[in-house]
Amino acid sequence: MSERVLIFDTTLRDGEQSPGATMNRQEKLQLARQLEKLGVDIIEAGFPASSEGDREGVARIAREIKNARIVGLARSVAEDIETAWRAVESAQLPGIHTFIATSDIHLMHKLRMSRDEVIDRAGQAVRLARSLSDWVEFSCEDATRSDPEFMCRVIETAIEEGACTVNIPDTVGYSYPDEIAALVRTVKENVQGIEKVIVSVHCHNDLGLAVANSLAGIKAGARQVECTINGIGERAGNAALEEIVMILDTRRETMGLHTNVVTNQIYHTSRLVTSITGIPVQPNKAVVGANAFAHESGIHQDGVIKERTTYEIMDPQRVGIGKSALILGKHSGRHAFRERIKALGYDLTEDEINLTFKRFKDLADRKKNVFDEDIEAVIAEEVLRTPETYKLLSLTVMSGSDVVPTATVRMEIEGQEFHGAELGNGPVDSIYNAILKLTGRSPNLVRFSISAITGGTDALGEATIRLEEEGNLALGKGTHEDILVASAKAMVNALNRLDYLSRQPRPSVRL
Ligand code: KIV
Ligand code: ZN
Repeated sequence: MSERVLIFDTTLRDGEQSPGATMNRQEKLQLARQLEKLGVDIIEAGFPASSEGDREGVARIAREIKNARIVGLARSVAEDIETAWRAVESAQLPGIHTFIATSDIHLMHKLRMSRDEVIDRAGQAVRLARSLSDWVEFSCEDATRSDPEFMCRVIETAIEEGACTVNIPDTVGYSYPDEIAALVRTVKENVQGIEKVIVSVHCHNDLGLAVANSLAGIKAGARQVECTINGIGERAGNAALEEIVMILDTRRETMGLHTNVVTNQIYHTSRLVTSITGIPVQPNKAVVGANAFAHESGIHQDGVIKERTTYEIMDPQRVGIGKSALILGKHSGRHAFRERIKALGYDLTEDEINLTFKRFKDLADRKKNVFDEDIEAVIAEEVLRTPETYKLLSLTVMSGSDVVPTATVRMEIEGQEFHGAELGNGPVDSIYNAILKLTGRSPNLVRFSISAITGGTDALGEATIRLEEEGNLALGKGTHEDILVASAKAMVNALNRLDYLSRQPRPSVRL
């Protein structure tokens, strides 16, 4: 009989700790809706004590999502736990995830606490959390560098106080598979009461082993795994949800385990995370990378044409990768457009459909074939966008081999219209000089890239830009048939994000 492994998604919490991946409330809600559709069991929606914004974001998700448990993270501190509870209490299935470090390195240098103090603090934290919530998870931060005997005592205390899930994080991605498997076994064999709770693993990817370590933990008896879409997260990221789920799915016979994930929602969820965070997926990334199902060698192509399973261990459709459907043209109507949006997994309001339909019509007028990817880009830009302080109204660029590139930009800034022209070393440089002059901002340009969303010279160009200003990192994206307009839109989008971030209260607590 196949046993179930619970999927605890932390894209909205640990994933959001990726540099520059800050999401606004609307984006978080959109992603939470998609995670619900994906069928994850638990959504860690944020760290409510970190800021007012996070608190509100978690509360909004808690009010809306019905089919997944909504959990808020809290240090083992009364105020954090009470704040986390206030944020999640309206959820159909609420929960508190509290943690404290158990390694000597953390005790000595970070917490400055003795082992006995840590045990007391963990016990008090779980007791308080359980007085508020029926579902409480307890984590031993830096578990894999902790003394296993001490860690087992801490976990035992947490279980005595009512924790229903105990989590073993490889916080710094230090472990290798045999070690984490041994640690899970040690916990299962030595902790009193362990049979009453779910054992969970949470692995970071510093040595590229997050998925292998998670799997080793599962094989040793963990029945919950904590992971993120596309493996985004602190530093080198967390274990990638899509990889763990597809390993269990593809090797179900061998593993005898399953998840409740709706696998054909994986690809769409991955693309949504990319479009919200601006963090691209490498082409050779397992399961969701652009090349994951591409066959280049003639021998492989020949094999796949004769029989797909010769070189494909998963059916791409199982993860929701269909043929990039050539869908709509300029004669397509609103009904067909609405149906396509639904099929792509989006749940848009009437106003949002109207907005995106208008953009689609403009696009179809200029571009012969409109692909799913084009529609996704339009939705990302029109629906998921940050509140706009700055709007690009028009752009004219003069460039070529014998002229100094010059950009003339017209913008709306807080409701008022401005225009200006600037020179630059190239057309993009002149555009950025003009926009920055008009907005009066001077961020550092950390990264700029441009790519075609689909094939063909009439493809939509997508510009991605990363800016840094006073400690805030913001990603901006822009799409347009004209790559210079796409570049200008990306800059304006990033500036809006920086502006949004600078208006948010600074997180009072960072992990
Ligand atoms: O990596 C980690 O230890 C964490 C904990 C808060 C669970 O993210
Ligand atoms: Zn983590």
